[in-house]
Amino acid sequence: MVLDSTENTSAKELTSTHQIFEQVIRTSEDMHELGILLAKQLKAGDLVILIGPLGAGKTTLTRGVGEGLGVEGNVSSPTFVIARTHKRECQAPLVHVDAYRLGSPSALDDLDIPFASSIALVEWGKGLTDDISEHWLEVEISRDTSGETEERQIKITGYGDRWAGVSI
Ligand SMILES: Nc1ncnc2c1ncn2[C@@H]1O[C@H](COP(=O)(O)OP(=O)(O)O)[C@@H](O)[C@H]1O
Ligand SMILES: [Mg+2]
Repeated sequence: MVLDSTENTSAKELTSTHQIFEQVIRTSEDMHELGILLAKQLKAGDLVILIGPLGAGKTTLTRGVGEGLGVEGNVSSPTFVIARTHKRECQAPLVHVDAYRLGSPSALDDLDIPFASSIALVEWGKGLTDDISEHWLEVEISRDTSGETEERQIKITGYGDRWAGVSI
């Protein structure tokens, strides 16, 4: 049987992509500042996937987002609790997820996170969030492989029309 090629195309392939930011970040303070700037673009229903190895700066960036959003409480790694909600007065909360120990999209689903009414940042979330939203951001952080500097290369890509024309 020959399938119509459009039926064979995944939703992600049909989603528009938008390059939003690409730069070298030299220090953890600069990473924090980038988080504050990123926060200005975020609203309820937004989903941000943070990609990068251990120590890349995913939590450092999220801490900046938390400051930018003016959340209650300190943002720290949710490695052991998996997800932590940081409230804001009369505004969408920040939900910070560390999906490292979640093996599948259904394990993330079991957490019952109200994504539509939250701003969600998910460390190690790549491949787990495909059915959650039609639009999302991917933040890719890579380290200087020579190990000589603490520089991080950051690339932020928006998926879906929500991110058309958005820049940081
Ligand atoms: N340019 C940089 N960007 C981000 N973090 C940096 C940078 N330089 C040094 N660091 C340090 O690297 C560590 C990053 O840790 P963290 O944010 O917890 O990473 P992850 O959540 O990706 O595992 C922090 O100790 C931070 O101070
Ligand atoms: Mg982390």
